Amino acid sequence: MSPAGGEGRLLVRDLAQLATPAGTDAPLRGSALGEVDVLEDAYVLCAGSVIESVGPMSELGAIDGEVEELDGRGLCAIPGLVDCHTHACFAGDRVEEFALRAAGASYEELHAAGGGIMATVRATRAAGETALANLVREHRKWMLRAGTTTFEAKSGYGLDLDTEIASLRAIVQARGVPTWLGAHAVPPEFEDADDYLDFALSEVLPAAAPLAEAADVFVERGAFDVAQARRYLAACADAGLALRLHGDQFTELGAVELALELGSRSIDHLEATGADGVAALAGSDVAAVLLPASALFLGRTMPPARALVDAGAIVALATDFNPGSAFCESLPLVTSLAATQLGLSPAEALGACTVNAAHVLGRADRLGRLAPGYAADLVLFDAPDWRYLAYHLGADLVAGVICSGVRAELR
Ligand code: NIG
Ligand code: FE
Repeated sequence: MSPAGGEGRLLVRDLAQLATPAGTDAPLRGSALGEVDVLEDAYVLCAGSVIESVGPMSELGAIDGEVEELDGRGLCAIPGLVDCHTHACFAGDRVEEFALRAAGASYEELHAAGGGIMATVRATRAAGETALANLVREHRKWMLRAGTTTFEAKSGYGLDLDTEIASLRAIVQARGVPTWLGAHAVPPEFEDADDYLDFALSEVLPAAAPLAEAADVFVERGAFDVAQARRYLAACADAGLALRLHGDQFTELGAVELALELGSRSIDHLEATGADGVAALAGSDVAAVLLPASALFLGRTMPPARALVDAGAIVALATDFNPGSAFCESLPLVTSLAATQLGLSPAEALGACTVNAAHVLGRADRLGRLAPGYAADLVLFDAPDWRYLAYHLGADLVAGVICSGVRAELR
């Protein structure tokens, strides 16, 4: 059956189950994160790029006018997944470092020796704008195959004017949500972090701000300290960008306090966050973006997800897809890690990578739910129960993805 175009109507019928975060609120905190509406024997009717109605098949009345039909028998539908933290704009790989790490080298040692992020910066600078655009498109396809219909992607592997701008353009061209990670690492041509920030803020920010929606900084020993991050983020906020931070990945340096002080959209990682950080985030509007694939890939302790949800913090889940610390584009795998390593229920994991992830990207009014008026973004997967999303570890269950009312080409 041929699918409807974004202009027509598409009926997905006879679904084994349809699961969607309940209600219309965003962000979801505390017990609301785990509230999922499940319909058995269900349909979704899309009109153009928007959902017109959802419900049980028994309530599907006659539909006037032309409609394409898609057979949903044996399939479950959930909202298109939202990946709110990726580094999808990179060239090359770090498979050699991966093998060294498997033999005992640490991520921090490789970074200090000029490998790590800087190895990818060298490859990304050498790639050129066209190759970068092709790479982001390819990475987008990997994500789509795993059910991601909206992805954020950061620059941060250029760290010079031309490559940072080419990276943001490549992300925009691939219809990603662009974040300027101008403060990811200090490239070797600069004396120190302050010297590099002088350049980044005076030369790159004016060109990056019209392209990007947000700015991000890596607050860590060997990257940027809190004072440097404050200076960088304050300038980015003045230029109209929303703020994000990589914080508490290896050490608590005060990134949570800075995120609260500046009214950041999110702080991401939090593997090293203690009880005070959890309490501070719970009492704030700063979202905690948790990246368990990165903690797994680097063999670190997992972030305090259960404590954050129970205390009432806004918790989102993302992949952190990048060539060094999380070569993983699969949000279904992240939901499995959430259920097995973070102590979240499958329902909480679903809310965290739909509604709350959309909130981090400022799009929760239209993304993250299967309900009338939301974007017609759906994942169809081969399973008798929607919780197979998290339960079937590492499986490739995605049978179809509908993006803005159009069935996406997956292969
Ligand atoms: O989120 N921690 C900083 N940045 C990335 C890793 C980037 C890399 O290793 O290339 C992260 O884990
Ligand atoms: Fe990251």
